[in-house]
Amino acid sequence: MRLFHRIRSLPPSPFLVFPVIGHLYLLRNPLHRSLSWISRQYGPVALLRFGSSRILVVSSPDAAEECLTKNGLVFANRPCLLAGKHLGYNYTSLARSPYGNHWQNIYSIASQILSAHNLPTISSIRANEVKSLLHRLAKSGGQSVNMKSAFFELMLNAGMQMIAGKRYYGENVGEEAIKFMEIVTELFSISGTTKMGEFLPFLRWMGLKGVEEKLMALQKKRDEFMQSLIDESQGSGGEESPEAAEGRKKKTLIQVLLSRRETEPECYEDETIKSLMQVILMGFDMLAATMEWTLSAMLNHPKILKKAQAEIDEVVGHDRLVSESDLPKLSYLHSVIKETMRMYPVGPLLVPHESVEECRVGGYRVPRGTILLINLFYIHNDPEYWPDPTNFNPERFEGMEGLKDGYKMMPFGSGRTRCPGENVAISMIGLTLGSLIQCFEWNRISDELIDMTEGSGPPMRKAQPLLAKCSHRSATSDLLSWA
Ligand code: HEM
Repeated sequence: MRLFHRIRSLPPSPFLVFPVIGHLYLLRNPLHRSLSWISRQYGPVALLRFGSSRILVVSSPDAAEECLTKNGLVFANRPCLLAGKHLGYNYTSLARSPYGNHWQNIYSIASQILSAHNLPTISSIRANEVKSLLHRLAKSGGQSVNMKSAFFELMLNAGMQMIAGKRYYGENVGEEAIKFMEIVTELFSISGTTKMGEFLPFLRWMGLKGVEEKLMALQKKRDEFMQSLIDESQGSGGEESPEAAEGRKKKTLIQVLLSRRETEPECYEDETIKSLMQVILMGFDMLAATMEWTLSAMLNHPKILKKAQAEIDEVVGHDRLVSESDLPKLSYLHSVIKETMRMYPVGPLLVPHESVEECRVGGYRVPRGTILLINLFYIHNDPEYWPDPTNFNPERFEGMEGLKDGYKMMPFGSGRTRCPGENVAISMIGLTLGSLIQCFEWNRISDELIDMTEGSGPPMRKAQPLLAKCSHRSATSDLLSWA
């Protein structure tokens, strides 16, 4: 009877569970869609088995709140997955490390360097990168432009400028840039391949050995590359390049962290600096994906695009480019970005957490060692909380400050592990999209609507890259006279 009672108090679960694979047979790509289907059948708190791992799928604001507040400490841990071992310095890097003193230390360093207080020091980098994108678009001559690559390159350039004072994408790039691009391409092509093997140990022994070896080789390459940037900043890597000297003037992130090392050497070891560099680059990749979604949504809703453009014309005028100080006054543009993040959250399942002890969620017993997946995509699109959720309607956010709305809207997570890059993200998205629609008229490449199907992630990107056409706006053509 006791056993029966214990089983009964567990969250609902699909009845058919196969030996070894558990409920993995129910999953398809993209994962958040399969989990949404399961939530519709079994409710907002459901328990699954992925191979040998227990997975708690949460898909309501109340249950999410319970996990992130009342049980916040219980779920503060990150699960030990394969990528964390090989790409996360054996679970010691920020997004992969278990909760504890080490994690708190690096998280607080990340929060300090990304805080609003430090934003002005990196805002000139962002403004210059946006200008170079405008320059590139101005030369496109109304031809179709692949905006997925444009945003990706813009973001990686902005990220690497901030980290090391270097640009790797664009004209006249050198050997170092080619090496960087190779690492980035390899990283993104390998990141999807580990998923099943995470949960099926026998796959690890069989087919995944090769993937593990690839991960190790990639990490070695990436580690050496990042180490060379640190050495260069310390002046121990031989002769300094002109770009690095330029980086020094701007006080790059590596530079800031190295200067702090003088007083607290144990907190700023090379591995800590490298793991911060990695997680920041991941954040910039999420930014690129969000910008692609936002511009796509606006192109499918030309009236919304026009309204955002009219707001910029009114607030900024035609004589100067949008700047970061204008952003607080561009409330409609913000509503458009919020609506995009609601419908297309690039982190649709947040980052997985794991329980360190038994707890209760929604009245159910959740055993220790259960991996938590919060289905943000489901919550953000649930008709119970969002009237007409499939309708792209920025007006629904009019008058709402900030990006978080309780637990029914939280694209940057919530609680102890909330994204510390939120301010950087909002400034960068606002500045880039604001400048693009201030300077250009935008059009789809055909009469057909842009396909908004999502691919697999994370980050959740569009399945098809956004191709669009842009032409100078007559009202603001003087702004591009330098281009
Ligand atoms: C659209 C852009 C972005 C979105 C949607 C986003 C979202 C998130 C989410 C959902 C988390 C995990 C929260 C949790 O576990 O509860 C996270 C963590 C984090 N993000 Fe972001 N982020 C974005 C951009 C950025 C940027 C630009 C940076 C840095 C410049 C950044 C730095 C970080 C860091 C350092 C963490 C902590 C990782 C950890 O503790 O495990 N993010 N972000």
